[in-house]
Amino acid sequence: MSQLVRFGVSLEKELLEKFDRRIGEKHYPNRSEAFRDLIREDLVKKEWAEGKDVAGAITLVYDHHRRELVNKLVDIQHDFHELIVSSQHIHMDESNCLEIIAVKGKPKRIEELAYRVKSTKGVKHGSLVMASTGKGLA
Ligand code: NI
Repeated sequence: MSQLVRFGVSLEKELLEKFDRRIGEKHYPNRSEAFRDLIREDLVKKEWAEGKDVAGAITLVYDHHRRELVNKLVDIQHDFHELIVSSQHIHMDESNCLEIIAVKGKPKRIEELAYRVKSTKGVKHGSLVMASTGKGLA
C-alpha cells in the first residue's frame, strides 16, 4: 500500500463549487477520491501519448446478417491477434450484435486496430476505451 500524503490546494471558490457539484453528480464519496481519479486519468493519457504498454477495450455494434462484414471483422482481428486478449460476442436481438474486444499492447497498434474495425462498412457503432495496464498507477 502506498503512503498517503496530505496537501492543501488553493483555488477559486466558484471553481471549487463547480467541482463539488460535478463530484456529487458522479457519486464520488469525497474530493480526494475525485482528485485521485483526475490524476490517474491524466497519467493514462500520458501512457497512451508516450507509447507505453497500455490496455483497452474496443466495442462494436453490427448486424450479423451482413456475412461479408462478419468475415471482414474476423480477418482484421486475426491480423492484430498479438494485441487481442479476449473478445466477447453478445447477440442483442435477432440481428444486432455487440462485440467487446479486450486489447493490450502499444497504443499506435491498438488505435490502428480500432480504426480498422470501426471504419469497416456496416459497423453501426464502434468505440475505443483507452485504459491502462495499471502498472504505472498507484
Ligand atoms: Ni450475434
